[in-house]
Amino acid sequence: MKTKSILLLVVFISLFSCKCDKKTANTEEKPVKNYVAIGKEYAISTKKLLGKNLKQSIAKEGTVGALAFCNQNANPLTHQMEVKYNATIKRVSDKNRNPNNKANATELKHIETFKKQLKNGEEIKPIIEKGKGEVHFYAPIKTNGLCLQCHGKLTAEVQSKIKELYPDDLAIGYEVNQVRGIWSVTFKE
Ligand code: HEC
Repeated sequence: MKTKSILLLVVFISLFSCKCDKKTANTEEKPVKNYVAIGKEYAISTKKLLGKNLKQSIAKEGTVGALAFCNQNANPLTHQMEVKYNATIKRVSDKNRNPNNKANATELKHIETFKKQLKNGEEIKPIIEKGKGEVHFYAPIKTNGLCLQCHGKLTAEVQSKIKELYPDDLAIGYEVNQVRGIWSVTFKE
């Protein structure tokens, strides 16, 4: 009986002290936004959505069919995420396929930085820049084996479909683990 009451007392005290701790912790907490984490979340969610759709399309219609699918859907799918997050989400490149995805001067500078870091085997960290009330997030988009069917050495069939859809295409000749472009994400501070 005695042990039981002592035990109850201990439980009571620990519950009480726990509540107190939480209270002090809460009042001291400052709302610090982690811009890298926010940018990463937006970029990775968009990457997942595009990747899932791309793989499904290749499985269903083959590479040439998937080219038409990307042509029709890459931008609307990306825009879907822009609406969801109330952010601007772009995939841009120094060797762009779609003329709308051409990197601007700032983006080109960051592409060069990421390329250099990759070449030197350095850790690649996303870049954050603050504008007027907004935050710019940049992170590299790297190639893997899957990308090469449309961005590496192409079959004649794939090549002719790309020429038809994108007469000014620059996005070929890649190998694995190269910087294909970057995520350029802008959101409110
Ligand atoms: C089935 C063919 C196909 C495959 C596979 C493919 N892409 Fe693309 N990619 C395209 C097409 C088509 C576009 C242009 C989309 C548009 O018009 O918005 C594009 C555009 C891009 C862009 C936007 C910049 C630009 O050049 O317009 C990036 C970045 C990109 N691809 C990266 C990748 C990466 C990374 C992989 C592998 C994980 C990959 N792609 C796999 C067909 C493909």
